[in-house]
Amino acid sequence: MPRFRTLDQLDPRGKRVLLRADLNVPVKDGRITDRTRIERLCPTIRELAEKGGRVIVISHFERPKGRRVPEMSLKPMQEALSVALGRPVAWADDCIGEAAEAAAAVLKDGEVLLLENTRYHAGEEKNDPEMARALARLADVYVNDAFSAAHRAHASTEGVARLLPAYAGRLMQAELEALDAALGNPARPVVAIVGGAKVSTKLDLLGNLSRKVDVLVIGGAMANTFLAAQGHAMGRSLQEAEMHDTARRILEEARAANCEILLPLDLVVAPSLAPDVPTRTVPVGAVPEDMMALDVGPETVAAIEARLRRASTMVWNGPLGAFETPPFDMATVAVAQSVAALTQSGGIRSIAGGGDTVSALKHAGVAERMSYVSAAGGAFLEWLEGKTLPGVAALEVA
Ligand code: 3PG
Repeated sequence: MPRFRTLDQLDPRGKRVLLRADLNVPVKDGRITDRTRIERLCPTIRELAEKGGRVIVISHFERPKGRRVPEMSLKPMQEALSVALGRPVAWADDCIGEAAEAAAAVLKDGEVLLLENTRYHAGEEKNDPEMARALARLADVYVNDAFSAAHRAHASTEGVARLLPAYAGRLMQAELEALDAALGNPARPVVAIVGGAKVSTKLDLLGNLSRKVDVLVIGGAMANTFLAAQGHAMGRSLQEAEMHDTARRILEEARAANCEILLPLDLVVAPSLAPDVPTRTVPVGAVPEDMMALDVGPETVAAIEARLRRASTMVWNGPLGAFETPPFDMATVAVAQSVAALTQSGGIRSIAGGGDTVSALKHAGVAERMSYVSAAGGAFLEWLEGKTLPGVAALEVA
């Protein structure tokens, strides 16, 4: 695992600490609909404040593309953060320049300040050195707790980390440790479960996983493409005909890397994707012409569970079926519950991430019973693809 400094090496007393957070939380009609990211950030802020640091929180919010878009202000997060922390949070309506510098200058030990959206400045996404210097002027040290934004090489995630002594916050540390335990240096055998709609969006991920894990379970609509590539009739199932060669190549590479690929053995089919339509379970190869595969069947679930019982580590990204539309949630829910039970009995270490996957685990009622659920979407995917995340690389120490 890359080496980085954590809060264990930082005495923040009397220091101005620039804390890169990810407050890009889901908001609907002006209300925050999911506070997970805010809650997960609190331990780092509390620790820094309780040790006497002067905490200056910065974050992006949505994609204002260098303009001050009022609906994309971080101002509503001031109260949300204050409630979550149980302590006051001051505010400045810019993240660099006079307003930010004045607010940072009056901050006392143990106080917390939130600055306006970093993406109001075009220099943020360009990783403009001038913007990075303006951020660095606010503080003595930099702490990055935004793993979920670490795939972006921006001034607040990368540039500024090179200008100040840089540390990983507790959430960043937890993410990196969990991910290292999943793929970096895992207890074997490792089973990866990958689902979702398209092979084309997960090519790098499938390639990287097949080189690193012992068993790669492929489900969701992307499994249809693999099955069709093997010559199975798939009826009206969603699949990518132009990806058949690629799918065959992935299967060959996996074989060469000694990775077992587990494709569906049976499928739940229906005439359309709609709630409570009549369904049938058929073996692979017997999908009727006028039907589409929308979930994997019980035989496949049993085969996945058999691999999981022998495994020590499990990584999950992407649902096995169209879980938002019951009854096509059955396989995803059944496997999620098995993973949760194995995790709780100490049999397996389970790591999951990605927006759909987290929703699926919540739907199955087991999100709290995994070893680790990543708060990141795009960053988690890029990490599964084996890419270097610029925000993480900038924290590494020689
Ligand atoms: C996320 O929500 O995945 C992160 O905050 C990154 O947001 P972005 O895709 O707008 O960079």
